[in-house]
Amino acid sequence: MKNTFKSFIKVLAISALAFFLVACGDNGGATDSDAPTIGISMPDKSLERWEKDGNYMVSKLEELGYNTDIQYAQDGVPTQISQIENMITNGIDVLVIAAIDGEALTDVINTATNQEIPVIAYDRLLMNSDGVDYYATFDLLEVGRLQGQYIVDSLGLEDTDETFNIELFGGAPDDNNAHIFFEGAMSALQPYLDSGQLIVQSGQTNFNQVATVGWSSSEAQARMDNILSSSYTTETLDAVLTQNDALAIGIVSSLSSVGYGDANRPMPIITGQDAETAAIQSIVDGGQTMTVFKDTEALAGVTVDMIDSIVEGEDVEVDDTETYDNNSKVVPTRLLEPIPVDVENYQEVIIDSGYIDASDINQ
Ligand code: BGC
Repeated sequence: MKNTFKSFIKVLAISALAFFLVACGDNGGATDSDAPTIGISMPDKSLERWEKDGNYMVSKLEELGYNTDIQYAQDGVPTQISQIENMITNGIDVLVIAAIDGEALTDVINTATNQEIPVIAYDRLLMNSDGVDYYATFDLLEVGRLQGQYIVDSLGLEDTDETFNIELFGGAPDDNNAHIFFEGAMSALQPYLDSGQLIVQSGQTNFNQVATVGWSSSEAQARMDNILSSSYTTETLDAVLTQNDALAIGIVSSLSSVGYGDANRPMPIITGQDAETAAIQSIVDGGQTMTVFKDTEALAGVTVDMIDSIVEGEDVEVDDTETYDNNSKVVPTRLLEPIPVDVENYQEVIIDSGYIDASDINQ
């Protein structure tokens, strides 16, 4: 009852603000009502996570009485730019962008800034632009560190002199996040690469050699196929640093095709990120070993809080005002904590919490 009343008051407040914006000459982005319109530009729908992020943001905004204009760019940079241009033309009041290429949107962000539209970078930082007002994301270095540390712990590297083979798989080179994940993972792995306890038989160790264009599962599979046939005919692979679940799917199928995953040849330790349904299923089935859970509902929630504070003229809550430099400014950032998930805790963290429905996993 109290909540209903609060919502009612909020709708009234937003309507009043929209009326004010219209009176000031801003067209307010009005569609069905006079409430402000929030433009949400998302990269693509091929990943379950982006669809969840978008759905959560829209439903939370609509609950508060906002209008939304959400567009998915099918992983095409020109498409993302033209979708954002259209949103601006249609009169949005706040713009949220999860960029495909964080360096490609400077001009369109300038257009937004010229029209006094606040811009929030969502999950991925928007580079080379003064017009980025806030950034909402997970602790990206920590995501990578959790992946690297999981490998260190699972191989027991701190307690043995034994050597192990590892290969590294990074995400898209034009995604700023992928570089940060790599840096985080390397902070855990580098000492063991330096000491020779971890060996990369392919010799591919720097980010540009291990990056995967478009975070593509099939690219990762093809690269793993090549590495296995060129470097692992006599050697056994013990671990694969894998930056997300999409890459892990390709890697698991490559490894299965040459006989990993049976009693004589266990799967290497394979990391991931996103807690996609297919990844949790793979963890249950003994394919992928772990994933890093980033709660998209929580990220959507803090972003909606930011939007609401901006619209209401209140202080926007941030956690970090020093780290996220986009080459033009340090962007005030809200940071959420990622959680490592494997076969031991997936039930509690992913299923019992309701993030994925138990009926979607074959246990
Ligand atoms: C996101 C990951 C996602 C990847 C591929 C990254 O920027 O942080 O959650 O798996 O992009 O879409």
